[in-house]
Parts: sequence; structure tokens; C-alpha cells
Amino acid sequence: MPIDRIRLPRLRDRIMSPEAAAALFADGMTVGMSGFTRAGDCKAVPFALAERAAREPLSITLMTGASLGNDIDKVLTDANVISRRIPFQSDPTLRRKINAGEVMFIDQHLSETVEQLRAGQIAPVDIAVVEATAITENGGIVPTTSVGNSASFAVLAKKIIVEINLTMPLGLEGLHDIYIPTYRPHRLPIPLISPAQRIGLPYIPVDPEKIVAIVVTQKADSPSNVLPPDAETRAIAGHLNDFLAHEVKAGRLSPALQPLQAGIGTIANAVLHGMLDSPFRDLKMYSEVLQDSTIELLDAGRLSFASASSITLSKDTYERVLGDIERYKSRLVLRPQEISNHPEVIRRLGLITINTALECDIYGNVNSTHVGGTHMMNGIGGSGDFARNAHLSVFVTKAVAKHGAISSIVPMVSHVDHTEHDTDIIVTEHGLAELRGLAPRERARQIIYNCADPLYRDLLWDYFARASRRGGHTPHLLQEAFAWHLRFEGTGSMLEQQRQPEAVPA
Ligand code: COA
Repeated sequence: MPIDRIRLPRLRDRIMSPEAAAALFADGMTVGMSGFTRAGDCKAVPFALAERAAREPLSITLMTGASLGNDIDKVLTDANVISRRIPFQSDPTLRRKINAGEVMFIDQHLSETVEQLRAGQIAPVDIAVVEATAITENGGIVPTTSVGNSASFAVLAKKIIVEINLTMPLGLEGLHDIYIPTYRPHRLPIPLISPAQRIGLPYIPVDPEKIVAIVVTQKADSPSNVLPPDAETRAIAGHLNDFLAHEVKAGRLSPALQPLQAGIGTIANAVLHGMLDSPFRDLKMYSEVLQDSTIELLDAGRLSFASASSITLSKDTYERVLGDIERYKSRLVLRPQEISNHPEVIRRLGLITINTALECDIYGNVNSTHVGGTHMMNGIGGSGDFARNAHLSVFVTKAVAKHGAISSIVPMVSHVDHTEHDTDIIVTEHGLAELRGLAPRERARQIIYNCADPLYRDLLWDYFARASRRGGHTPHLLQEAFAWHLRFEGTGSMLEQQRQPEAVPA
């Protein structure tokens, strides 16, 4: 172990095996682990916990920043270690157990978890397990590729286990900006007025005596699993770029736009990738996760600075960025997710936020989490933090899913994550609906006309026409509002074969 990885000498005799560290946990504990969208997760202790659970009962409440990589959620789920999971996940095995009601999942706005911990609203963290690049002279923990909730977990936990990852370059030190809000009623404004500003420490300040174990690892983060842009996601990017260029021309935005946030996943990544071909310059990001597209924009000189809570990259881009971290570090900062997603900062900076919907309804309500209204996909993540407080809140989705069997534009969403009040723009490959300043009936026309897939457009006009005749500020036929979802459940397609749609209402 190079001495520059643990610079407080008295901590060096706390190095132990993952198995010895796993023996420090007790059944029923609440554990806060590092990790945010596969980046910076701890890579040894979770596996030792799973092995221990094969020999004796061991189940925990697991809190993280967001989703984990290295199949950690899968391994812990298979070993029945997770009884309760907070605040986000994206693992198919865990998802199955959540949807079977076997794991209790608390799907939370990502900015809120540590607020609730600090206020004693949820069970306190017994042990924090945090991946680190190094421990400083004063016992501070230097995170790796994410900050997530690690800082507050470590500060609030009774005990801390640090996983020092030797594959993480020491040059990561200085990338992080750890600022933790003060307790109420003495809370001060977060003094952040631009994405590039640093307001905290480059490490997590903890009492070194709380560090009860140090485990050494050499495993890399899991690479991101987003797919490359395709024809539809390129079209979505094109529509959004055209709209933003129009806003610049109209004088409502400058050519540098406003700081950008882009959500997780294939579509959001492709939309940012599309900005490579845009006329915008000197862009800045104030986001929660940076994907490959951020690095492409930085390399192309389009983006001048990016602030987030984690960096989740494909294998090649990951190796390129970590191998040249000194060059990137001056243009990147990683913050606690409480700060990257803080409503106060998002509203102050005036972000353009781009998040992904599973489905939107004709009035602009958005479902980002529940397939068919009941089955959890991943969780709301930060999308609610950003959409509610954005300067311009954009939702993107492909117009259909499952080869056309599902329309992403429906009469009424089967679950609401983002209300009509939080949605300014909806974009699909067919076009962009601009909803600002419109009443529900006007919004419906925009969304059906611009965003619906031709397969479903007439059926939507038909629903809207008949609902409009019934009256109401937000016209609906309640007995039919979920008929499309029920039809999909029954026949495997939302398409209706028999009934001829009515004409477009005047
Ligand atoms: N009903 C059922 N399934 C649907 C669907 C719908 N209306 N719309 C999409 N899907 C399926 C797709 O078919 C695909 O399934 P597959 O994995 O079996 O191929 C899957 O959902 C993912 O859809 P995709 O179109 O590839 O989009 P994505 O990778 O960009 O993910 C979300 C979309 C909504 C699942 C994802 O963005 C998410 O979890 N969002 C919530 C959290 C969030 O927004 N965080 C943002 C702050 S960082």
C-alpha cells in the first residue's frame, strides 16, 4: 500500500480483509454505501456481506447515492441481504424482487435522502462504506468517480469502512467539492452562483476515529450500458437543437444557453451527443451524472465546464479520462448529490433540464418510473429535483416502445412522477411540443400533433374529441382513460383494431 493512499499513519493498522470488515455488520442494520449510477461503488465489502449471508441471517436496509455497478445489487439481492433499498436502483434482479413485494423500495428524489437522514426522519446510518482514492493527513476521505450521498453517510454514520481503490488515479484528488448544508434553523443559503464555483473541501471531513476498517481493492467501475444514438434519438436531438436555436434567435437564450442537465440513459445521452452538431458554444453543465456525451462535448470545445455528482462512462472513455485526469480536472467538479440536485441552486442557475419519460399524457403529465402504472423500472432519480425547478423543463421519449405495441403518448399516464405543471417541452422523434403558457386543451393539440406516433395519432384525436365534448378544464373519459394500458395487458398491444377514429376537433 503506497503511503500516499493513507496519509494519516495511525490509520494504516486498520487495513483488513473484506471478510473481516463484513464481520462488523449486524443483522437489521442500516448501511450507507457509496455509488452513483455505477460510479464509485464499493467493490469488496458488498461481496463479503453476500458470502456471510450464505452462512447466517444478515439483512440490511441499503442506502446509496443511486444505482450500483459490478452487479452489487444483484449479488446482494440473490443472497437476500437487502430487505429495504433507498433511493434508486436499476438492476433487473432487484427490480424483480421489488415488484414481487419482497424488497421494500423507497423511490426518492435524490436530493432528499440525506436531508431526511439529517433530520432524523428515516433510520440513521449504522455503517457507511465509502470507496476512496486516498485518506488525507487529517483523516479526510477523498472519493473516487462519484460523491453521491457518501459525504453525509460518512459524516452521519456511527462507523465508517473505507475501501481504498488502487486503480483510481491519485490525480482524482481535487476533483471533488464537498459542501454540506448546515442544520436548521441556522441553515444558510448555498453560496453557489455558477456551475464552476467551488464552495467546499476537496475531501469528506470525518472524525478519523470513526474509520474502523480500511479495505484495499483493485476493481474498476462498471462501464456504462447506454446504447449509441440511433435514428430516433438523433431526430429527438435535432428537434431540441432546432428549438433551442430558435430561442436564441428570439433573444430568450444566449448562444451559451443556460447550464444544462441531462438525465441518465440512452436517450438523454444521445440528445447531448446531438449538441456536437449544434451552433451553441461555451456550454456549461450542472447535472447529476456525466455520460460519454459530456466528454465528447468537452473534447470538441463545445462545453467549457461540467458539474455533477458522478462520472459514468463507457470502457474506452473511462480509461481515456482517468488516464488523463489532470487535463480534465480543471473543467470538471463532483459534488454531493444534495448540492448537484438542490432546488435552491437549480432555480438560481436557471437550468435547461432534459429528462426521459416512459410515457407522457396528452396534457403533459409524465411517468418516468412505473411500467403499466404498477411495475417499478428504476426510480424517479433526480428527474423531479430538476424538472420542478428548471428554467426550461424538457422531457424526451421515443414515441413508441416495444416495436409499436406501446404508445409513449397516452390519454392518461398510468402513474405520475412529473405533473403537467413541471413540463415545458415534450420531444419525440416526430417533433417537439412547446407547452409553455398553454391551457390543457391547447397542450393536448400540441402534443398529439407534434409528438404522437402516426400509428396512434388518430386514436388520440378521437379520445380527445370525445372527451372534449364531455367538457371540463382537462377533458377525460374516466372509464376509458386507462383502456390503452388494459388493452396492452390483454392483447400485447395498445392498438385498437376495430373502431374507426373520429375526426380532429376544430
Ligand atoms: N412502457 C413500457 N416500457 C417502456 C415504455 C413504456 N411506455 N417506454 C420505454 N419502455 C422500455 C423500453 O422498451 C426499454 O426496454 P428494454 O430495456 O427492455 O429495451 C426501456 O424501457 C428503456 O427505455 P429506453 O427508450 O431505452 O430509454 P432510456 O434508457 O433512456 O431509459 C427511463 C428511460 C425512463 C427508464 C430512464 O431514463 C429512467 O429510469 N428515468 C428515471 C430517472 C431519471 O430520469 N433520472 C434523471 C436524472 S439523472
